[in-house]
Amino acid sequence: MLRRSKMPSPLGLTATNVTHVFGGKEPVVALQDFSLDVAPGEFVAIVGPSGCGKTTLLHTFAGLVEPTDGDVRVGGERLTAPRRDIAMMFQAPTLLPWKTVLGNCLLPRELAHRVDDADRDRALELLAWAGIGGFADRRPHELSGGMQQRVAICRALMGDPSVLLLDEPFGALDAMTREQMNVDLRRMWADSGVTTVLITHDIAEAVYLAERVVVLSGRPGRTLDVVDVPLPHARDLSVIETPEFAKACARIRAYFAREDSHVGV
Ligand SMILES: Nc1ncnc2c1ncn2[C@@H]1O[C@H](COP(=O)(O)OP(=O)(O)OP(=O)(O)O)[C@@H](O)[C@H]1O
Ligand SMILES: [Mg+2]
Repeated sequence: MLRRSKMPSPLGLTATNVTHVFGGKEPVVALQDFSLDVAPGEFVAIVGPSGCGKTTLLHTFAGLVEPTDGDVRVGGERLTAPRRDIAMMFQAPTLLPWKTVLGNCLLPRELAHRVDDADRDRALELLAWAGIGGFADRRPHELSGGMQQRVAICRALMGDPSVLLLDEPFGALDAMTREQMNVDLRRMWADSGVTTVLITHDIAEAVYLAERVVVLSGRPGRTLDVVDVPLPHARDLSVIETPEFAKACARIRAYFAREDSHVGV
């Protein structure tokens, strides 16, 4: 299990009446009146059709986009710019090809200050925890896609975040790798206790990973439902066989019955 000593306390995240309109000749309302309270240490997944504003929403949670209306608070403080303790992981692993796995992991520390031995120890600990401890000196191209995603997760956690934001992190992976990554991610979340918000198109992935699933409408994204996932805290893949899992998936899937919604399992 990962040491928790270096992890700051997880912080809650609150979005209140968030609306975002992208300006231009033809303004696009990406999000409308979105509100959500994520408790400290909670894992929330957000699903919704393509183009409904999920990435925009996550960017407002990261302080990368200032909403046109409403506000986002982290630990009660209004978010006006990116913060070091909010980590974001993108769909592509976005590793620097010329740096080793260890070097990529250390990047947040490098940007913050000079890297010291404690940082190196921490990165190696994270890599071992993610099951890629033997690859610290390799370059990204020597790793599989799933292993690269693990490095990206380690790099995100390297900043000891209070909040972890994941935008379809496993979208590009094959089904089997993805399943294993989900098991690992759930375990990593349980170990680190970091407040986590995951965007995904995959309903089963959302239900397997999260404590609650927010269902968004087509653009502009509005909340259609918030589904509590009644599964145990410690989850292995056997939960997928349970009636509770099937019921939660069916409830969410019913919102996306139209063939062109691009939300699937
Ligand atoms: N920088 C931008 N300027 C103008 N419009 C934008 C910008 N970014 C996103 N949009 C528009 O806002 C809407 C929501 O985009 P967003 O990327 O948040 O959707 P999404 O739900 O993440 O989609 P996907 O599931 O395909 O990733 C889209 O109509 C998109 O065209
Ligand atoms: Mg997106």
